[in-house]
Amino acid sequence: MTDYEGFITNIKRKTNIDLALYKEAQMKRRLTSLYEKRGFKNFNDFYKGMERDQQLLNEFLDRMTINVSEFYRNGKRWEVLQNKIFPRLLKENRKLKIWSAACSTGEEPYTIAMVLSNYLPLSQISILATDLDENAIAKAKTGIYPERSLAEVPTAIKEKYFVKNGMFYQVKDEIKRTVTFRKHNLLKDPYEQNYDLIVCRNVMIYFTEEAKDQIYLNFSKALRPGGVLFVGSTEQIFNPSKYSFDIEDTFFYSKA
Ligand SMILES: C[S@@+](CC[C@H](N)C(=O)[O-])C[C@H]1O[C@@H](n2cnc3c(N)ncnc32)[C@H](O)[C@@H]1O
Repeated sequence: MTDYEGFITNIKRKTNIDLALYKEAQMKRRLTSLYEKRGFKNFNDFYKGMERDQQLLNEFLDRMTINVSEFYRNGKRWEVLQNKIFPRLLKENRKLKIWSAACSTGEEPYTIAMVLSNYLPLSQISILATDLDENAIAKAKTGIYPERSLAEVPTAIKEKYFVKNGMFYQVKDEIKRTVTFRKHNLLKDPYEQNYDLIVCRNVMIYFTEEAKDQIYLNFSKALRPGGVLFVGSTEQIFNPSKYSFDIEDTFFYSKA
């Protein structure tokens, strides 16, 4: 067993996270730079260090999850959601079941609520937002962000749904109330069914082909016929029909 394989086994036992389902070269590079910075020689030593030091384990979790996010990330795609996808979904169903999967620190589910508020009162909007990383979820729940996270937010939305507080922006409670945050591992936990919309962006890039394949199958099962999967702007699905997906627009797949 290689040094890294041993590490994968130990981490799985300790945290239930299966690093074997993440692209190896990329993950190894990120973790190696962390352990070297902390003065360890190899993955085995690094793991022993984590057993002694909870802070190091937290640092590892932080490094492996990559929480970067922002509001209205790839703005043009959100216009498609607003102008094309939501009008169609709302014609079919007034009460939408929506899931922001791998939501990180909350920018994505809050953006969904802001976009959908063009059509529905906030009291009728309910979004499930999940992530593997509990620290990210805790931040998401606070709803406080630095200005750079808001770079793509349209001015009118910024004025309507954020309160400026010193160097930070606070998402208003009326938006926060639309989102329920929960811990969920896409590689392991069961998926709820009957979604109208699943937004899962900028996480599939980290997974192996086998892991991606399984997740797309799970998403397909979790959507109602006509429901939509919205993916990240580098995450085109190459064989959508394998998962019963039709291309509704670039980066939007509807279940056949
Ligand atoms: C780069 S962020 C993407 C955030 C947001 N979706 C966006 O596009 O801005 C990737 C997120 O995926 C989460 N993640 C990684 N592996 C996961 C897994 N197995 N299950 C659920 N979330 C996972 C990480 O914790 C991180 O918050």
